[in-house]
Amino acid sequence: MTSPWDPAQYGRFSNERTQPFLDLLAMVAPVPGGRVVDLGCGTGELTRLLHDRTAAAETVGVDSSETMLANSAPFAGGGLRFEQADIETYSPGIRFDVVFSNAAYQWVPGHETLIPGLTALVAPGGQFAFQVPANDDHASHVVAREVAAEEPYRTALGGHARTWPVMKPEWYAETLDALGFVDLNVRMQVYGHHLESTASVVEWVKGTYLTDYARRMPAELYERYLVRYREALLARLGERSPFFYTYKRILVHARRA
Ligand SMILES: C[S@@+](CC[C@H](N)C(=O)[O-])C[C@H]1O[C@@H](n2cnc3c(N)ncnc32)[C@H](O)[C@@H]1O
Repeated sequence: MTSPWDPAQYGRFSNERTQPFLDLLAMVAPVPGGRVVDLGCGTGELTRLLHDRTAAAETVGVDSSETMLANSAPFAGGGLRFEQADIETYSPGIRFDVVFSNAAYQWVPGHETLIPGLTALVAPGGQFAFQVPANDDHASHVVAREVAAEEPYRTALGGHARTWPVMKPEWYAETLDALGFVDLNVRMQVYGHHLESTASVVEWVKGTYLTDYARRMPAELYERYLVRYREALLARLGERSPFFYTYKRILVHARRA
């Protein structure tokens, strides 16, 4: 499977997508001279901001997508580097003062094992910070799954149904508390975006959620899927201009004792 991540498509709503990153970054205390990792760093533009704001000596941006990392070179340097690796199997043999991730863990199944596993990367006294979308129940995502269950997409997807591993905010709080983390700050935030029209939601979802279907269908069939998705979504939400798109996200920050 080639990487379906397209930096240009993802970047179309960069202002809206940057705000949650900034909100998460504001929860992180600087670690002058320390070591930071950004898991699922994407193109690395925001990792640069993370590196500069935390005043770390060393920051590693980790991503599994070669297309996203292909754009990272201009942001590297001064202690910031990028590595192609999978969050699920990332095992650098060192611990970090900040284990950070913005909008990536929703792509990794099994948070019951993922989250405890990742906390092992946090050095004593270090910070564990991440943001995950929690908008799976919005029509934008519900309709995407409904259309994927229609033929001929269902057969092309081999019965694959997009599952959503993101847990409730309280689950992350309970899990981190049980793991001995302190100073927990776990919040659910509704971000509101005034998009040009209802159809703009298709462009938004194409940049992230639908990449899962794009990678599993031939290009021509995926184009047909998009036409059908757009039609079904506009029927569900109504054709409005502008369209107010609400997007729930969970932000988590905690410190290892
Ligand atoms: C929505 S983008 C977020 C990028 C960046 N953190 C930001 O805030 O702009 C999600 C990123 O997670 C990466 N990703 C998804 N699953 C991954 C995995 N299992 N291991 C590493 N990276 C992954 C994707 O390649 C993509 O670049």
